Amino acid sequence: MSKALQDLFDKNRSWAQNLEQRQPGFFSRLLEQQAPEYLWIGCSDSRVPANEIVGLMPGDLFVHRNVANVVVHSDLNCLSVMEFAIDLLKVRHIMVVGHYGCSGVKAAMNGVRIGIADNWLRHVEDVRNRHQTWLDTLESETQRHNALCELNVLEQAVHVCQTSVVREAWTRGQEVVVHGWVYGLHNGLLQDLRMTVGDADAVQAAYQDAVAQLKARYDRQRELGAG
Ligand code: CO
Repeated sequence: MSKALQDLFDKNRSWAQNLEQRQPGFFSRLLEQQAPEYLWIGCSDSRVPANEIVGLMPGDLFVHRNVANVVVHSDLNCLSVMEFAIDLLKVRHIMVVGHYGCSGVKAAMNGVRIGIADNWLRHVEDVRNRHQTWLDTLESETQRHNALCELNVLEQAVHVCQTSVVREAWTRGQEVVVHGWVYGLHNGLLQDLRMTVGDADAVQAAYQDAVAQLKARYDRQRELGAG
């Protein structure tokens, strides 16, 4: 095995030993069951390690990640994760977590062709198109990119709410709250985009509210810049 790969095994060994030393019986307890309260739907980007960011241990966070944290109604992978998380693990919160500087979002924003991912990122282009007129009013490419990262989170959070899995959970009275968050690569901080939805009737209003707040924030920045 190459030195670099051997390093990974060495690090793994000392990680497991450290954890077991600090919390004796940690792994054997996890063997019995996992009872995470949260499902994290985030970007695959290596700079956005879900558990680490929120300081959660193995067993505390159920995770689904893909390029640009997209939730597509026909994606069996994501739907299966959601069904398992909601129906079996009974998670109480689902957070869609985007991040600034997302290269998938940037490719969609500029219509850059990458390859197979073009078809995947087409969903983010749809978000861009829906808000294109407003996005064009932003002054810099960075602002447009940041704003699209945020808008994409809100849109994908709506998709989470629209899945059969979440709708059925709500219908039977199971408490599941959907959130939209964005993570800053530059400072390691999470920001709540204030879309928090716990029932089917509230989805559209929550989405529109969150979008309005988001746009007002950028509009304010622009006015400050102009003044
Ligand atoms: Co990304």
